[in-house]
Amino acid sequence: PRKIILDVDTGTDDAVAIAAAINSPDIDLIALTTVNGNRNVEYTTYNTLQVVEYLGADVPVYRGCAHPIAATLDPRRKPGMPYYVSSRPKDGDVHGDHLDIPAPTIKEQDLNAVSFIVDCLMHSDGDITLVPVGPLTNIATALRIEPRIKDKIQEIVLMGGGYKFGNRSPVAEMNIWADPEAAKIVFSSGVKVTACTLDSTHQGANITNEECEQMAKLGTRAGEMCAKFIAKRIWAYHNWDPTQHNGQAPIHDPLAVLAVIDPTILTEVHHTYVDVDFSGGNADGQTICEINFTTQEAHEPNAYMALNADRDKFAKMLLEILAIK
Ligand code: BDR
Ligand code: CA
Repeated sequence: PRKIILDVDTGTDDAVAIAAAINSPDIDLIALTTVNGNRNVEYTTYNTLQVVEYLGADVPVYRGCAHPIAATLDPRRKPGMPYYVSSRPKDGDVHGDHLDIPAPTIKEQDLNAVSFIVDCLMHSDGDITLVPVGPLTNIATALRIEPRIKDKIQEIVLMGGGYKFGNRSPVAEMNIWADPEAAKIVFSSGVKVTACTLDSTHQGANITNEECEQMAKLGTRAGEMCAKFIAKRIWAYHNWDPTQHNGQAPIHDPLAVLAVIDPTILTEVHHTYVDVDFSGGNADGQTICEINFTTQEAHEPNAYMALNADRDKFAKMLLEILAIK
């Protein structure tokens, strides 16, 4: 099995990623680390502990950074900057901050997530993959305080960024937007980075109502829990935009876990140079990819950007993994 540290801002789709990582025989989940993102880190840690306990897993949870590297916790990230305000009606809970499972009794570890990541990697044989599915604050901070971990990380397979899709703004995906400076550090780190972009999850990581119903009937706690969260997402996306999300919803974060198990699930993968905008304007958080930029000014590639995924394989793998008792 592949050793991973799953970095989360749980979140309903993070919860499905956690369940997949716990259940898969091909994954050795060393630890879960939490980060500020969907909600503040106290909340994402609480939610993560909830999921771990509900699934009866023996996985340590480390609490990570409470603030983006360079910005405040102001919802606009930088007070006073122009930012995009959606005119669409919002149901307010698409990402499902509140997880409808019992409160946790287990506790997080004493050590903070960044110290854990550094220590764990420095004592490893270079066989640990980082799978961040929230803002990249913990990973970037770890790289900053101990640059030698660069040679210890096997690879980074993340959920984040976009090429033609945005969700926090027309050009920015949430995880990158929430801490673009951190994203810049990670993309320019020299570590092998594969990004499951919003393009890939919106096109290739959808789960339909029928698949969700199958999931609920798998006869496992993981299946029942994930079906509950996915049903909520399908409902929310449908209310949001029925023409695009009729009876299905993107379940972003498990795609990164499944891509570690089987990289062929990712399609339209471009080895390209990715820059991240954090100039404080309308492009804040954009992942600028040199995919169709083939002039002499183009840079050396620094990431594998997956723009699509095999949707049928995504659903099949997820159902198979969640069926494991
Ligand atoms: C990402 O944003 C988060 O809210 C989701 O959990 C996912 O990681 C999608 O843009
Ligand atoms: Ca997430």
